[in-house]
Amino acid sequence: MHKARICGTGSCLPDRVLSNTDLEQMVDTSDEWITSRTGIRTRRIAGAGEQNYQLAAKAAARALESANISAMELDMVLVATMSPHMIMPSCACFVQAEIGAENAFAFDLNAACSGFLYGLDLAEKYIVAKPAMKILVIGSETLSTRVNWEDRNTCILFGDGAGACVLESSPKRGILDSSLHADGKLWNLLYMDSPASRNPELADPERKGCFIQMSGRDVFKYAVRAMENTVTNLLDRNGLSVDDVSLFIPHQANVRILGKLMERLGMEDEKVFINVNKYGNTSAASIPIALDEACREGRINDGDLILFCSFGGGFTWGSMLLHW
Ligand code: UT7
Repeated sequence: MHKARICGTGSCLPDRVLSNTDLEQMVDTSDEWITSRTGIRTRRIAGAGEQNYQLAAKAAARALESANISAMELDMVLVATMSPHMIMPSCACFVQAEIGAENAFAFDLNAACSGFLYGLDLAEKYIVAKPAMKILVIGSETLSTRVNWEDRNTCILFGDGAGACVLESSPKRGILDSSLHADGKLWNLLYMDSPASRNPELADPERKGCFIQMSGRDVFKYAVRAMENTVTNLLDRNGLSVDDVSLFIPHQANVRILGKLMERLGMEDEKVFINVNKYGNTSAASIPIALDEACREGRINDGDLILFCSFGGGFTWGSMLLHW
């Protein structure tokens, strides 16, 4: 059976860097608090000409270049995002037009920070069913547009950016297995309202605006446990252990979550790719941005076993194994 293989990666980060010292001028916080609680030192914030789809399209163009595939060869464009600049049309349609992928169908997917893994999993199913397909999967966010810049509990955590990858079929290498999960009962521990409804029957007076709301400690606790379980089960059912993993690319939420996760999994530091210190939590974009950096830094070689893992609002979480 053919596998779905990632044959090119790309990413795009906004130009503007927002440091912890800058945040000290905006809310009652300190570089020391942010660094010690999250490991984040800087994040990127989108400006003019850096709408979600524009970041996504630049990441996509770089991924196509590295895959040596033209946009016209694409059959499908999927953008995982929870911060599109418009509700309709989808971000993916804007990307499709921007890069000139005229033969591709296009749609968005929202699984919060797990969106990229959900998207890869879906793309893999298409390619297994139709091996001729070439698919672009993008994770792209402009969470700076959805963060309450007066709420120190959340505004220090998030950043903007996009990462993309191109998938095609391969007789040997590619995605080996994945495991996706959700628990909608816990939605209110991490959520983002849409703007108030104009339909009086559906308007909710309790709504606090379209900002990210989070119970940080609960999210922390669930995230560590859920990611540990999904990774352990995925490795077990494939007869593998953490020792077999060449590089672990987790969702970049915060170094303390990752530290606890690595401790519980018994994963050595050098096997884990971390860049949350530079970009903060970019939600659905974090894994593809990290993957692109890892590729460009020469951290991934042919034959490597790569492990992805994510956790986010929903709650949604998951893990994936790839034979590179
Ligand atoms: O993709 C998943 C996305 N979500 C996450 O990754 C978040 C997971 N959660 C976390 O990483 C942590 O819970 C946080 C980093 C968000 C917070 O760390 P914490 O150790 O859980 O702190 P806390 O929320 O329990 O707050 C401790 C104190 C509070 O003050 P009091 O009530 O003890 O006086 C907060 O008001 O820290 C205060 N605090 C801050 N102080 C300075 C909260 N935010 C800040 C801040 N600067 N930015």
